[in-house]
Amino acid sequence: HAADAHRTDLMTITRHVLNEQTKHPESRGDFTILLSHIVLGCKFVCSAVNKAGLAKLIGLAGETNVQGEEQKKLDVLSNEVFINALVSSGRTCILVSEEDEEATFVEPSKRGKYCVVFDPLDGSSNIDCGVSIGTIFGIYLIKDGDEPKLEDVLQPGKNMLAAGYCMYGSSCTFVLSTGGGVNGFTLDPSLGEFILTHPDIKIPKKGKIYSVNEGNAKNWDGPTAKYVEKCKFPTDGSASKSLRYIGSMVADVHRTLLYGGVFLYPADKKSPNGKLRVLYEVFPMSFLMEQAGGQAFTGKQRALDLVPEKIHDRSPIFLGSYDDVEEIKALYAAEE
Ligand code: AHG
Ligand code: MN
Ligand code: MN
Ligand code: MN
Repeated sequence: HAADAHRTDLMTITRHVLNEQTKHPESRGDFTILLSHIVLGCKFVCSAVNKAGLAKLIGLAGETNVQGEEQKKLDVLSNEVFINALVSSGRTCILVSEEDEEATFVEPSKRGKYCVVFDPLDGSSNIDCGVSIGTIFGIYLIKDGDEPKLEDVLQPGKNMLAAGYCMYGSSCTFVLSTGGGVNGFTLDPSLGEFILTHPDIKIPKKGKIYSVNEGNAKNWDGPTAKYVEKCKFPTDGSASKSLRYIGSMVADVHRTLLYGGVFLYPADKKSPNGKLRVLYEVFPMSFLMEQAGGQAFTGKQRALDLVPEKIHDRSPIFLGSYDDVEEIKALYAAEE
């Protein structure tokens, strides 16, 4: 009956994390409780996204966020859902959200030892046309157990305990790493449970796809322009790469993780630090890529070695298949 074990022995995300927890005998289930609250938030946003068009949840909320972006109703709703879910878990002490200018310091009576950085709704420009969007998160442990302070969320990405995303697409897919590889779970709406569907994801060592917003080409620096040129006009007789760009980082990264290839959001003359935010976009996706056997580079260094100075810092990012990112690193090294 091993063959149909998956039908009767459901590996839910909660069971999976409990299994992982047995490797940390000292843990008291706090992380499992924190994760279950993040999962709850994702299930709520998934259902809101699926009925956005019907429930008048599309369009603008009428506010602008610290990024200078007009907030969509779903940006604001998802942010409130995650803040409430994380605070009510009783396991967090500091929260950083793309949608909040300042970090949230959880009130002492509800404090735990984890700091969560998150992008409640990634790919907002794609909401109104029904293209895949997502939620991205990263989890740090508070540095030393006393009073939480901002430095606790200004740690390099390599200090993250866990990172993941939930993609709201044709199915609702939750991808997670707690430092021992990457696993993917798909929501079974009839059960309301995320079931393990992509165990131990490994990104292909080299890919045939590059993913970048070609509309910024006139502002790229030399190495980026040279790399994209090589993708389109290979000089070694290999086939040109395909271009795939969805415009939601979660969707572009998920495809890169499963199919291989490289995702780029480079610096350009207008934005020398690129567009993507270090804490809740660059770090979690870089963490996952390394855990899946790929890598992530900023144009200057390993992305996870970066130390953010402010909670909404941005960085250029080149991430994906190991060999593809190596080529980009070589072009930047030659430029030095
Ligand atoms: P967000 O919707 O959370 O602000 O993030 C949008 C980001 C990311 O999802 C995507 O990769 C990038 O913006 C696309 O930017 P361009 O439209 O400039 O290509
Ligand atoms: Mn935004
Ligand atoms: Mn985003
Ligand atoms: Mn966002």
